[in-house]
Amino acid sequence: MSAPASVGVGLVGAGFLAQTRARCYSNVGGVDARLVAVCSRTQEKAQAFADQHQVANTCADLDELLARDDVHLVDLCVPNHLHRPFTERAAAAGKHVACTKPLTAYVGQDLAEDASDADVSATPRAQMLELAVADAQAMVDACASAGVQLMYGENWVHAPAIRRAGELLRAGDAVALELRGWESHSGSHTPYSRLWRYNGGGALIRLAAHPIGAMIALKRAEGVARDGQPIRPVAVTAEVADLSVPAARGATPTIATGWVDVENWGCALIHFSDGTRGVAYGSDNQLGGMESKLEIMASTGHLKCNLSPHDMLRTYAASDGAFGDEYVMEKASTQAGWNYAIPNEDWSSGHLAMCADFAQAVAQGRPAASDGLLGLEVTKVIYSAYVSAAEGRRISLD
Ligand SMILES: NC(=O)c1ccc[n+]([C@@H]2O[C@H](COP(=O)([O-])OP(=O)(O)OC[C@H]3O[C@@H](n4cnc5c(N)ncnc54)[C@H](OP(=O)(O)O)[C@@H]3O)[C@@H](O)[C@H]2O)c1
Repeated sequence: MSAPASVGVGLVGAGFLAQTRARCYSNVGGVDARLVAVCSRTQEKAQAFADQHQVANTCADLDELLARDDVHLVDLCVPNHLHRPFTERAAAAGKHVACTKPLTAYVGQDLAEDASDADVSATPRAQMLELAVADAQAMVDACASAGVQLMYGENWVHAPAIRRAGELLRAGDAVALELRGWESHSGSHTPYSRLWRYNGGGALIRLAAHPIGAMIALKRAEGVARDGQPIRPVAVTAEVADLSVPAARGATPTIATGWVDVENWGCALIHFSDGTRGVAYGSDNQLGGMESKLEIMASTGHLKCNLSPHDMLRTYAASDGAFGDEYVMEKASTQAGWNYAIPNEDWSSGHLAMCADFAQAVAQGRPAASDGLLGLEVTKVIYSAYVSAAEGRRISLD
């Protein structure tokens, strides 16, 4: 596909993530990017979304969106089970694809249509690993053979704090020895997150996927800068648990509860090919607002990346409602007391820079910084972590 001067973006999905993407594509700098069309499962929702974000065209479905000549980049903001089939269809139509995290998930794709939720989550973890990785590889292959890019929507890779940390490490040829990262809050709002069938896992795939993606990207860049060879994850050890179960023994919990067959806490220890380590957590047990953090203990320095919260703006309010109905930060349950009111989450989370990079990659005909191979490696690490947690042993990724 030749590089267009003006990049037309087609958004697939009009839910939570699509809202972020629409704000970001409307504000990217350094490239002429336009949101030209949106489709969703429900036409009325797509229309309401188009009205809200001034998107000129609403399509009835993916086929109609793919048929448009002014769509060069398709951004998939749809549930996990649609990532592979929608990517393959978009690639076959000659469109570049941006797919959100996780690139793929095991959601019972090999089971009969009438398989129960319990059948899905009872599937052996090794089988899940094989299928999720095969799906991710199929997406990479489909885009490669169609001559289009597969971009992986991992916003942490583009977060200003993490990008700058990577630059500082490379400038001093520092070795990142120990990476500790986590995304934690008080529990997902959506009932779908409670079931393996919809999510392909719990806190590990939904939350820890972010620090895992950032760690792999940083170690990859470190190796390439030093001797042209990426440093790769080679083994994983993990634990998962539903900590809302012991929480019920005390006072009525204010963390989210009702997890059906997924973990609400997960920890993966990643062994990299140069002998260094990463520890990534995902947790639904943290009150007081969302924490998205990555700490790097390097051979010549110590770096703390605070995506959320960070203290560019701290606020105090005597009571909730003191600032009207203004949003303070993700998952903050009140304005009262001291808070971190993040001035621009789209910027600090990396979503804005990521959308800019996707559009620029298409306009300039160069690879995006966060690509399908990164998504593939994250999938491999996460499902190997599930195998490790189920079998109580370290899993080699080879
Ligand atoms: N930071 C991040 O990177 C981040 C954050 C949140 C979510 N995510 C990822 O984003 C994806 C979507 O999550 P979400 O929270 O945005 O979910 P959501 O709010 O439920 O939105 C999903 C959207 O997909 C649409 N959809 C479903 N089936 C479709 C179909 N067959 N054709 C076209 N559209 C269809 C839905 O349409 P209707 O509304 O019309 O039914 C809805 O607009 C997931 O993979 C999730 O892991 C990533």
